[in-house]
Amino acid sequence: MRRLKSRFSSVSPQTDVYQVDPETPDTNVIQLAAEAIRAGKLVAFPTETVYGLGATALDASAVARIFDAKQRPATDPIIAHIADSGTLYDLTIDAPAIVKQLTDAFWPGPLTLVLQRAEHIPANLSAGMPTIAVRMPTHPVAFALIKTAGVPIAAPSANLFSRPSATTAEHVLADLNGRIDMILDAGPTSIGVESTVLDMTQTPPIVLRPGGTAITALQQFLPDVQQQQRWHTPEQAGTSPGMMTKHYSPRAEVKLYRGALQAVLNAINTYITDADESQEVGVLLPEVDLRQIDVEGSYAVSLGKTAEDAASRLFAGLRSLDELGVEVILTREPTFEGPLNTALVDRLQRAAEGRVTSVVT
Ligand code: TXA
Ligand code: MG
Repeated sequence: MRRLKSRFSSVSPQTDVYQVDPETPDTNVIQLAAEAIRAGKLVAFPTETVYGLGATALDASAVARIFDAKQRPATDPIIAHIADSGTLYDLTIDAPAIVKQLTDAFWPGPLTLVLQRAEHIPANLSAGMPTIAVRMPTHPVAFALIKTAGVPIAAPSANLFSRPSATTAEHVLADLNGRIDMILDAGPTSIGVESTVLDMTQTPPIVLRPGGTAITALQQFLPDVQQQQRWHTPEQAGTSPGMMTKHYSPRAEVKLYRGALQAVLNAINTYITDADESQEVGVLLPEVDLRQIDVEGSYAVSLGKTAEDAASRLFAGLRSLDELGVEVILTREPTFEGPLNTALVDRLQRAAEGRVTSVVT
C-alpha cells in the first residue's frame, strides 16, 4: 500500500493521500478508506465526473463536517452516493414508477435523481428540505468504497465552496489539505463536469443542473422534462440553493463572450492588446480559436477539440490560470457538437457569475 505524505504535513489534522489504481483499486486501501467513512471521517474519492468529498450519509455530525471542511453554506444540499440501485428505495419514499426505468438506463452513471427523502436520513444532508438527491457513480474506486463502507456516502464536489470543482487529487489538496482526513488519488476524472441533477418531485420533472447525462437522452423516458431557468440569487434558488449563479469561480474575473465567432475572437484580441502592461490576461478557448488569438500577449489554455475534451479540461484550466496569477480570464460560450456543450455553457456562465458580454456585429 503506498501512502504519500501530504505536501504540508505540519498542518493538523493530517490529510493522507493514497494512490489507487483507477480500474482495480487495492482492496487494503479501500478497506482503510471504508473504515474511515464508517468512523465519521472525511474521505475524498474520484468519481467519473469530479472528485467527491465523502462522509457517511447516515450520520448528521459526519455530514456537518463536510459543510465545515468545504465552508459550504448549510442551505446547499448534498448528493447521497450508492453502489446498488435498490438502495435508492431505502433512502427515498414515493418514488414514481418511471424512476426504475431511469435507473435501469442511466445507472451507474452521471445522473442524480431528486426524490422525497426517507424519514431516517439526516435532514442536514438535504439542507432541511423534504427531498434527497441520489446518484450511483460508475467509477470503480467510488463503487468499491461505497460497497465496502456499506453505507450511502454523502459527497459534494471536493472543492472549497464556490471554487471550480476538483478533477484531480492535486486540486483536492490545493483546496482541502489539512481540512479532511484522506484522499484516494486515482488520477484525473474522465468526464470532468458534474452529474445531471434531475428533480423527479416536480411535475413535469426538471433538470436542475445540466451535466454528464444528456437531456436528449432523458427525453426518451421523460418527453416533457423541463430545464431549470437560470438562478441569480440565493432567494430565487429556493428549490436547489446550490444552483445559484455564483459557482465554479476562479479567483480571476471570468469574462464570458457571446456572439458571432469572428467578432468574439476580435473582441478578445482587442482586450489583450488594450490591456494595461501590468494586467496579466488569461485566455481559455477551444484549440482552433487559439490559432487566431494573440497568445504572446496572454496566458492561453486550450479547451481541446471536442466537448469531451473541454469538459475534462474546464476546471483544471480555470485553476491553472488562477495559479499563473492572471486577473482576468477571457473565454466564450462554447459551441461544440454534442450534449456536454450545455453543461459547459452552464459552468462558464456560473464561473462568470452570470455576466455575459454580448458582441454585436
Ligand atoms: O457529479 C456530481 O454530481 C458530483 C460527484 C462528486 O458525484 N457531486 C456534486 O455535488 O457535484 P455538489 O454538491 O457539488 O452538487 C450537487 C448539486 C448542488 O447544486 C445541490 O444544490 C444539488 O445537487 N442538490 C443536492 N441535493 C438536492 C436536493 N435534495 N434537491 C435539489 N437539489 C439538490
Ligand atoms: Mg459542487
